[in-house]
Amino acid sequence: PAPGWTRTADTVVIGSGIAGLVAALRCHERGQSVLLVTKALLDAGSTRWAQGGIAAALDPADTPDEHLADTLTAGAGVCDEDAVRVLVTEGPAAVRRLADLGTAFDRDASGALELGREGGHHRRRIAHAGGDATGAEISRALRAALKEHQIEAIENALVLDLIKDAEGRAAGVTLHVMGEGSPSGVGAVRARAVVLATGGLGQVYSSTTNPEVSTGDGVALALRAGADVADLEFVQFHPTSLWTGEGARGRQPLVSEAVRGEGAHLIDHDGVRFMVGRHELAELAPRDVVAKGIMTRMRETGASHMLLDGRHFGAGLWERRFPTILAACRHHGVDPVTEPIPVAPSAHYASGGVRTDLWGRTAVPGLYACGEVARTGVHGANRLASNSLLEGLVYAERIAAAIADDAPEPGEPVASEDVAERPETGRDVRSEIQRIMAAHAGVLRTAGGLATADRELAALAGTLGERGVDGWEAANLHTVASAIVAAARLREETRGSHWRDDRPGRDDANWRGRLVTRLTSDGT
Ligand code: SIN
Repeated sequence: PAPGWTRTADTVVIGSGIAGLVAALRCHERGQSVLLVTKALLDAGSTRWAQGGIAAALDPADTPDEHLADTLTAGAGVCDEDAVRVLVTEGPAAVRRLADLGTAFDRDASGALELGREGGHHRRRIAHAGGDATGAEISRALRAALKEHQIEAIENALVLDLIKDAEGRAAGVTLHVMGEGSPSGVGAVRARAVVLATGGLGQVYSSTTNPEVSTGDGVALALRAGADVADLEFVQFHPTSLWTGEGARGRQPLVSEAVRGEGAHLIDHDGVRFMVGRHELAELAPRDVVAKGIMTRMRETGASHMLLDGRHFGAGLWERRFPTILAACRHHGVDPVTEPIPVAPSAHYASGGVRTDLWGRTAVPGLYACGEVARTGVHGANRLASNSLLEGLVYAERIAAAIADDAPEPGEPVASEDVAERPETGRDVRSEIQRIMAAHAGVLRTAGGLATADRELAALAGTLGERGVDGWEAANLHTVASAIVAAARLREETRGSHWRDDRPGRDDANWRGRLVTRLTSDGT
């Protein structure tokens, strides 16, 4: 269909997690007109669910170099060191700016930031808020700032495609705004710069810590627009989501790594601490190591889940430090004060995404990406805990500076802005994609399983179903799932969160590089 309405802005930001909100605020501060669009409500994305916090060398005894070393180790040999150096050196000041903007981080009696510890960190360096409600507090503070600066936001707006000018530069986006009100239906925003901050893709899997909205829309849009996407095979599984029963689907409650950081133990059903002896940091090993340790123990014992024991914390520590997790567990009939918590790995974070330079620029001029949708190179094969909020923050600030420098000036949009038809699929297709990916392209992968996933996804490609938003989302999930499977088939080794059961070793001789995905003109 042709767009029913058109709006203009200097910069259009797509997404309202930490990356989108910071990009919008910082572009506004630089005097640009900014329009922020987001698929559901402003606080519906992953940021508000972030528990553990935001990592930075904030302790006087800590250094960016130590944070760099931990990040590179977790990334298993494929981080871009320059990108990590930007993250860890600019991180502390960026977190302080977030505090100045009104984020109420937890502090000790002297007013210093209380810092927690998580997997892969050799020091306490995680700033948190509300105990384990860090993302919710950051989102609140940023949304308040957005309102204070009267930056316009359009909610319930699913982004469809990039509009380009005749030179191939980004010139805006097409959108579908759901519901009544104004604007509504299919429309277009014309802009000189487009910032993708659409978040993750966890909904590609049947069990994920991600909210419903994380359907990989930004990666799918970028692929269609001809941008490069990289490291997609590195989908990180969080070791400890609350196990809510056999066959549980959709968003699973997170049990933060910070719980292990405070000293909770992973045990099997005989009470054995199975991570001891597997890694020098035991339960606080990098996330991929712990997820593999849990999966291996589940396989060895035939159990559906493992247990996280924090009974020794006592009620006081649970209530003060982990109120969100305590409430979620109790809601599901588990009391962590008196019993171990059932846990299992769930899809959590896309370490890869739309490839950018150190300033958030993608391969398409005028198109920028930050936050989970981006692949800046800081995460490599396995993101270090609590580096995600930091990446969204630091690189969103950099994008605002880059846009001011680049001063993109697109020409007239090429041809029309008509919204392209694409295979229309519906909810049934979405759950079929999730089933295929969980069965064949999850924590444990083999060449045979991935070939099956490829075949089954290909068979879904022509499926006709219902039209509208569900169909667009399912089509995006299909694009992203197919790209993940293609990359996972190519990488014939085990590294970070990509675990090939048939290729158990890390192969540094052949696989230190990255896999870049680009759609060909026939859509493959
Ligand atoms: C957690 O709190 O364990 C999640 C933190 C993260 O994903 O970085």
